[in-house]
Amino acid sequence: MRLQSAPQPRNGAAAGVIVIQRAHSREGLSRGNPGDRRHGTALPFAPAGADASRRGLSQDPLERHSHEPHRHTILITGGSRGIGRALAEALHDRGNQVIITGRDRALLQAIGEQRPGLVALPLELGDPASLADLAEIVHARFPGLNVLIANAGISRPENLASGHWDDFDAEAIIDTNILGVLRTVATFLPLLTQQRSATLMATGSALAFLPLASFPTYCASKAFLHSWLVSLRHQLRHLPVEVLELSPPYVQTGLTGEAQATDPRAMPVQEYVQQVLLKLERGDHPRGELLLEPDQARRWAERDGTYDTLFALMNPA
Ligand SMILES: NC(=O)c1ccc[n+]([C@@H]2O[C@H](COP(=O)([O-])OP(=O)(O)OC[C@H]3O[C@@H](n4cnc5c(N)ncnc54)[C@H](OP(=O)(O)O)[C@@H]3O)[C@@H](O)[C@H]2O)c1
Repeated sequence: MRLQSAPQPRNGAAAGVIVIQRAHSREGLSRGNPGDRRHGTALPFAPAGADASRRGLSQDPLERHSHEPHRHTILITGGSRGIGRALAEALHDRGNQVIITGRDRALLQAIGEQRPGLVALPLELGDPASLADLAEIVHARFPGLNVLIANAGISRPENLASGHWDDFDAEAIIDTNILGVLRTVATFLPLLTQQRSATLMATGSALAFLPLASFPTYCASKAFLHSWLVSLRHQLRHLPVEVLELSPPYVQTGLTGEAQATDPRAMPVQEYVQQVLLKLERGDHPRGELLLEPDQARRWAERDGTYDTLFALMNPA
């Protein structure tokens, strides 16, 4: 399987928001069977060559039983707005089964109505019961989930020198950007490892590699994710789960407020997502890192001896 480049007709199945009724405990959910792990398979977003090399050996239930061999089942947290939403729509346009989450139920309802076939589910990452509810639905309705995009995140500026800084925003950022991602991965990794091949992508930031000092906890949260994903990738190296780190630049979304969505210094979200999809299609993510070219300088600033110079450019004295 690989990401299709040509848009496909969308699934006409009934869409919309599902109001979750919790009926069973999380423990009752179907879990991954370590004995069922398969090795050496091509991954959902792998380039064409890697895919073709093992196509004849396919034992993928999706490929054997589906008329749409390229169809992935993709869960995107934070898929109701911004980058997650644009990714969701682009992947949905390509014929994939896409499930998005967000906190705003009215918005989820509207998205579900606009896009038949796209499933929109509520999720509050700070509420363990909410994640358990989501897991229950996904296990029951989408047991073939093979792509998880842990994308939900928040960003807030903090002035640590103000004399009245408290850790309220910092805790919210850590809870969403770090613990939220860890909880999401913990919840869905067993299902991903059940698939013949799967992809787990988490959204970090180009600021993981060089901080914008006015967003100290935000940048640190993304640096945490970078390190954690390196370890996760290593630990999963013998399992057919590809671990990707998506590190966006400054993109026109509402992440820091309305002004960002139209800030001419930020990249239009559609343009960013098109570039991301191109890289996914080409398998252009060395070491699992998906960064645009202009951000490579920041990524390698330590190695290149340019860290202090670039930091000073980003954070004027
Ligand atoms: N835009 C940029 O410049 C930029 C740059 C680098 C990295 N990123 C990263 O990209 C990711 C997406 O950001 P974005 O720019 O698309 O922001 P956005 O437009 O504000 O979207 C954020 C999404 O995350 C969801 N979310 C936030 N807190 C949540 C929580 N506690 N529980 C569940 N869902 C929650 C939001 O849902 P609701 O709003 O419906 O609650 C929304 O769908 C984030 O991880 C961000 O750090 C963005």
